[in-house]
Amino acid sequence: MTIHPIITIPAAVLRKTCKPVERVDGELNQLIDDMLETMYAAPGIGLAAPQINIPIRLIVMDISREDEDKQPLVMINPKIVSFSEARRRHEEGCLSIPEYYAEIERPAGVTVQYIDRNGEPQELTTDSFLATVIQHEVDHLDGKLFIDYLSRLKRDIVIRKFKKAKRRASNTTL
Ligand code: NI
Repeated sequence: MTIHPIITIPAAVLRKTCKPVERVDGELNQLIDDMLETMYAAPGIGLAAPQINIPIRLIVMDISREDEDKQPLVMINPKIVSFSEARRRHEEGCLSIPEYYAEIERPAGVTVQYIDRNGEPQELTTDSFLATVIQHEVDHLDGKLFIDYLSRLKRDIVIRKFKKAKRRASNTTL
């Protein structure tokens, strides 16, 4: 298994609309295992393919606690088909925006349709914390980041900070 480097803002791949997965085969399953490994190593509770520079509609998640067995959840071509009217705020973070957290309000529940790693169509309805994670990860597939829900001022401050940090990093390697 391969642990991939995780892409951080302001990389262009994080702003792309990702392409649907066309075939669920051994190669895709290898990529899924790599993504899970990369997510667990980070550590994170969700990872979308564009975050490892592969702009396809594939997400992996695991919201189990450390003292529980792993519960990996893999969604290929996920589509949220309904949102609850009730909304909820959660503190969110993102492996592509390291060490930044903010409270984001989203619909509290969702129903999502997707293909599992065996190629079978599935549907899941949840109004637990998983609903927030699913929305965050599906957003990645449309080039959307959780900071986009913040005020423009706050978002610009975050983006500027990361641009500056990247410039600093490249200066020191020259
Ligand atoms: Ni994220």
